[in-house]
Amino acid sequence: MSHLIDGKAIAKELNAETAAQVASLRDGGIRPALAVVLSASDESAAWYVRSIQRAAAARNIECQVHELAGSDTGAITSRLAALSADPAVHGIICQTPLPAGTDLATVGASIAVGKDVDGANPTSLGMLAAGVPGAFAPATAAAVMTILRHEIIPLGGRRAVVVGRSTVVGKPVALLLLAEHATVTISHSRTPDLASVCREADVLVVAVGRPHLIGARHVRRGAVVIDVGTNPTEDGLTGDVDTNEVAGVSAAVTPVPGGVGPVTTALLLRQTVQAAVLARGARAPGL
Ligand SMILES: NC(=O)c1ccc[n+]([C@@H]2O[C@H](COP(=O)([O-])OP(=O)(O)OC[C@H]3O[C@@H](n4cnc5c(N)ncnc54)[C@H](OP(=O)(O)O)[C@@H]3O)[C@@H](O)[C@H]2O)c1
Repeated sequence: MSHLIDGKAIAKELNAETAAQVASLRDGGIRPALAVVLSASDESAAWYVRSIQRAAAARNIECQVHELAGSDTGAITSRLAALSADPAVHGIICQTPLPAGTDLATVGASIAVGKDVDGANPTSLGMLAAGVPGAFAPATAAAVMTILRHEIIPLGGRRAVVVGRSTVVGKPVALLLLAEHATVTISHSRTPDLASVCREADVLVVAVGRPHLIGARHVRRGAVVIDVGTNPTEDGLTGDVDTNEVAGVSAAVTPVPGGVGPVTTALLLRQTVQAAVLARGARAPGL
């Protein structure tokens, strides 16, 4: 019987650790602050940002939302640069989607690496690839790894297949799995016979954005399946994995909702608090 991984419970543990760190920072007169730049009118992005605001408020973390609808690359870049220079801001997210003609790599480059809590600056991804410490991984990629660690899934020498090669999820997850000594395959829309590639996986991570793309025929018996996909449907949020079907063959699978999503939000807050701790150390050692 497949184990349904409880992302909410993992998030709760992370949030408890974050709350303790926030309390310690506040004893030193620092309130961690996250700034979110929202530059396109998009209902699901606005919903996601509201959920971050609620989660931040519950942990006494300031969450500023900078609405820049109708802005161009120059305006978004200048706001991100101003926030990067503001000592009262510790973490910065540039929420996607972006306005037409603007891309995340270009504007993300103006986020200071130490505040880049969702890994949007190409330098952060480069540091991850080079194994250079000091950059944050995109929170969703970090959430996948946190779940695997929490569930004590061995990775060294095992086969991992990542479906999806985006800069925010697929590529960083693959780099993080590689750093844990997994043998990693990245597949995408041009991969022929996706099912047989996926069936090689001991650990299958799916980040595509197509409801129920992955079924039982894609999963080796006993594999662990992490579903990153979030697809709004008439029946609510649905993942990329047909959990009911896959549960018949996998050892463990994450549900949607309640899997990767809550862990991602918890890690955004945790990385913001870590950024505040590091900034405090840089400004005033001994605080
Ligand atoms: N839970 C969370 O916290 C969280 C956070 C971020 C994203 N997400 C969700 O994760 C999903 C992926 O997000 P993303 O930003 O990575 O999306 P994306 O930038 O659109 O990338 C999707 C990837 O899937 C690949 N793909 C598309 N169709 C495919 C197919 N039929 N077979 C195999 N691969 C296929 C694409 O391949 P090509 O490169 O060849 O086009 C691309 O690499 C979305 O549902 C998104 O909402 C969830």
